Amino acid sequence: MKSRYNWTEPLIGIIFEKRTLICLDMDFLQLPDKISDISAGRDKEQEDSAALRDRRAIPADFSSIYSKDLLPASGGQEITREFLQEVVAILLGYICKSTQRNTKVLDFHHPHQLKEGLEGFSVKLPEQPETLEQILVDCRDTLKYGVSTGHPRFFNQLSSGLDVVGVAGEWLTSVANTNMFTYEVAPVFTLMEEVLLRKMHSMVGWSDDEADGIFCPGGTISNLYSILVARYHFNPEVKTKGMGVLPPLALFTSEHSHYSVKKCAAVLGMGSDNVLVVKCDERGKMIPTELESCIVQAENKGLVPFYVNATAGTTVFGAFDPLSTIADICHKHTLWMHVDAAWGGGLLMSDRHSMKLQGIEQACSVTWNPHKLMGVPLQCSVILVKKRGLLQQCNELGAEYLFQPDKPYDVSYDAGDKSIQCGRHVDVFKFWLMWKAKGSEGFGSQINKCLENAEYLYDQLQRRADFELVLKNKPEHSNVCFWYIPPSLRGLPAGPDRDERLHQVAPRIKGRMMEKGSLLIGYQPLGARVNFFRCVFSNPATQQEDIDFLLDEIAQLGYDL
Ligand SMILES: Cc1ncc(COP(=O)(O)O)c(C=O)c1O
Repeated sequence: MKSRYNWTEPLIGIIFEKRTLICLDMDFLQLPDKISDISAGRDKEQEDSAALRDRRAIPADFSSIYSKDLLPASGGQEITREFLQEVVAILLGYICKSTQRNTKVLDFHHPHQLKEGLEGFSVKLPEQPETLEQILVDCRDTLKYGVSTGHPRFFNQLSSGLDVVGVAGEWLTSVANTNMFTYEVAPVFTLMEEVLLRKMHSMVGWSDDEADGIFCPGGTISNLYSILVARYHFNPEVKTKGMGVLPPLALFTSEHSHYSVKKCAAVLGMGSDNVLVVKCDERGKMIPTELESCIVQAENKGLVPFYVNATAGTTVFGAFDPLSTIADICHKHTLWMHVDAAWGGGLLMSDRHSMKLQGIEQACSVTWNPHKLMGVPLQCSVILVKKRGLLQQCNELGAEYLFQPDKPYDVSYDAGDKSIQCGRHVDVFKFWLMWKAKGSEGFGSQINKCLENAEYLYDQLQRRADFELVLKNKPEHSNVCFWYIPPSLRGLPAGPDRDERLHQVAPRIKGRMMEKGSLLIGYQPLGARVNFFRCVFSNPATQQEDIDFLLDEIAQLGYDL
C-alpha cells in the first residue's frame, strides 16, 4: 500500500520534559478551589530537548518496521519512542488544527465511500501485519475523515471541546491500562473516584459521609442504575426472586425527558408502557399538577407508582423541572425521586446558575455527566445515590476470585461490586486532572462562558428578521432553539402549508453544511414544532465570532430554499 505519510512535516514543538512531583502524602488527591502553584518541589532535571530535536532531524523510516519490533521486543525502546513521537505529532497536529477557524469541522464521506477505501486508507482488516508506516497513515486518516468535535464551530452535540489536560488524562489512563474493580489493581484511581464522588455529593447538597455513587458509562447507564436501585429499595427480593415478587410498577418522567428513561424501564423488564409521560409547560418544564394526575391515573389502572425522574437540563430545550415541588410530591406519595442532571449538573459548578437546580438535594439519586457541559473527554458519567450502601447491596454478588474478604487492605475500597459491570474503565482520572488544573472556580467560569454564549446567540436571534426563536424567553441553559426563515417563506401566514415547507429547511441546510464542512449543528422536530435548529454550547473554544458565523452561514446556505 502506497504511503502518504509526510516525514518532512515539522513536528510541532514537541518538548518532552521529565518532571517528578514530590508528594509527601495522599493530600495530592484533594481537589483545589483555585489553581495551585505546583512548580515548587519539582525535580528540575529535564531531558535535553535540543538533543531530542536533533534526533528527529533524521526521522525513522517505518516502512519495514512492524508492531512486533516495538516494546516489549528486546531492543525495542528506541523505535517505540520514535513511533510514539510520530503518533504524538499526529495528535498534536490535529489538536492545533481543531482550534483553527479556517479548517473544516468535517470532511464528510458517505459510508459506502469510506468502506470502499480512500487514498491508501481502508477500514478493512488484513491477514498479514502492516508496517508501522501504514499504521501511522491510518492514525492520521482516521482523524482526517472523522469530525472535529473540538472545533469552535462544532455545535452538534452536548459533548464537545478538546480539553488538553483532559486529553493528557485520557492518554495516561490508556497507558496505565487498569481496571476499576478492585483497589488492588487501581489504588490511586480508586481514591480519586472517592474524592470526586464526595466533591459531587457536596455540590448536590448532600453530606459526603451519607452518600454513595459510582462512575459508569454514560447518562443512560446512570439512569439505569437509578431505576435499578430504586426498585431494589422498593423490594430487595427482586434481586434474587425476579420481577414476580413485584406488583406492576409505574414510573413517571416528563415528555421532554431523555428517551433513556423508557429504554431503561424496558431493559429492566418493567416495560416502557409503564413509564407514564407527564406534560410540560411551554418552556419544557414538567407541570407538577400533571404529575399528580398521572400518579392518580396510574393507581386507577392498578399500577403502583414508585419512581419519578425529574430532569435538570432537558436535552432539547435545556429546561429545568421544578425540583422542589416535585420533591414535595414524591415525599407525599413516598416515591423515589431521581434527578437526571446529565446535561444540567455542570451548572452546580457556577455561582451564577446553580440555583436553577434548587431542590436537587432532596433527590434520592442523581445522574451527572461531566462529559457534557463540563467538557471532560468522553466518557465520564456518575450516578450518585443518597443512601450509602444501597448500590452495594443491590448489585453485589461477592465473586470470590475478585472480591476476597481477606485481602491485606481495607476491602471496602474494592468498589467493583457496586457496579453491574465486572471490568470498569478508568473514567475518573482525566476529570480529576482537569479539576486540579482549573480548580472549582475554573470550571465555574468555563460554564458561565457557555451560558453567556447562549445569551449572545439569543440576543442576535432577537435582532434578526431572517430567524425565529422557538422559545421567546431568555435561555436557562446553553440550549438555544431557532428556525431559519428563507426569503421564500417570509410573510407566509402561519399554518400547515408554511409548516410543511419550514420542516424541510433545516435538514436541507444541514445537508449542505455537511458537504461544505464549515460547521455542524443539530436539528429536530418537537411535538407540534416542525424541524428547528438546536444550538448547544459546551465547547470553551467557541467565541462570539463563531456565533456570528453560525447565523451568517446558515442564512447563506439556506437563502435560496
Ligand atoms: C438529559 C439527558 N439524560 C441522559 C442522557 C444520556 O446520556 P449518554 O448519552 O451519556 O448516555 C442525555 C444525552 O443527551 C441527556 O441529555
